Amino acid sequence: MVIVMSPDATADDVDAVVAAVESAGGEASVGRLSVAGGSGRTFIGVTGDLALIDALRIDEMRGVGRVRRVSTSYKLVSREHRTERSTVEVGGVTIGPGTFTLIAGPCAVESAAQTTEAAQIARSAGATMLRGGAFKPRTSPYAFQGLGEAGLKILADVRDRTGLPVVTEVLSVRDVELVASYADMLQIGTRSMQNFPLLQAVGAAGRPVLLKRGMMNTIEEWLMAAEYIARAGTLDIVLCERGIRTFEPATRNTLDIAAVPLAQHLSHLPVIVDPSHSGGRRDLVAPLSRAAVAAGADGVIIDVHPRPEQARCDGGQALTGPELLPLARQLDDLTTVLGRTTA
Ligand code: E4P
Ligand code: PEP
Repeated sequence: MVIVMSPDATADDVDAVVAAVESAGGEASVGRLSVAGGSGRTFIGVTGDLALIDALRIDEMRGVGRVRRVSTSYKLVSREHRTERSTVEVGGVTIGPGTFTLIAGPCAVESAAQTTEAAQIARSAGATMLRGGAFKPRTSPYAFQGLGEAGLKILADVRDRTGLPVVTEVLSVRDVELVASYADMLQIGTRSMQNFPLLQAVGAAGRPVLLKRGMMNTIEEWLMAAEYIARAGTLDIVLCERGIRTFEPATRNTLDIAAVPLAQHLSHLPVIVDPSHSGGRRDLVAPLSRAAVAAGADGVIIDVHPRPEQARCDGGQALTGPELLPLARQLDDLTTVLGRTTA
């Protein structure tokens, strides 16, 4: 059960609800949520014998806004908790139903010049957000690990010059505050999806979060990860399907296209697709992006590089300007046919 307090609820109102729940043998955990475009709300997650707790008539207590029974293991991100699909605002860009957001940029920030060129490619194709990794999760400890804070500074500078809000990955709890001080949105990568302390730290960081699906995780585990972030303080979460590991070696991962409508059915959060990391092949980025639009995704996040053959990370899946431009036009046409507008 989730109890959402009204905006004018006092601390005493919250304490009274908690005491009532506990008097019926239930457990109550209090949190505060911020939602894009609105003021924060206190919520109380309740577990226990719900028949006993129902008898308390909590919905009639002072300061209580709404009481919802939620049958799924994730609560705040569930469609049962909020029936309408949500939108998430990132630096003036709205991600969610009715729109289609194109996010593009380099896989890794390598230099100011490369990031600027990639951002120009992104912007001229109509992308409204810039991606780029400063902290890179690499399989090999000898591979390029990213520029760290120097990379964040480059991203912030390019954002200031192009107006494109920035999403970038944070790999460790230690760096959350630092990354949040430069980025508009914090990315949790596939390898970190079940790093629970990290999920809690980004949830409390005051920035929207892009939560990639773990490459070996179920949809339910993905939504439970989102629940960790929500419980820590924000519902400004965008889910990203980026492919899962299967027995098929022809692609880097298998894009689970069904996960898009399924996640949207189970959760009110926006869902986007990463066609670059899922296929891992430049020639698959366009078809997978078109599939994402057709499946109802709320956007795509695409790797671009001015010179992919020189990329320090994932060059084989990066598009150049001449490749991104026609794809962006196609996605525009497709979204129009499907009655949506590009953000
Ligand atoms: C990309 O952004 C990741 O860091 C990258 O895909 C990891 O790949 P790797 O296995 O080449 O390190
Ligand atoms: C990325 O987008 O930079 C990235 C590392 O992706 P993923 O976590 O999906 O592999």
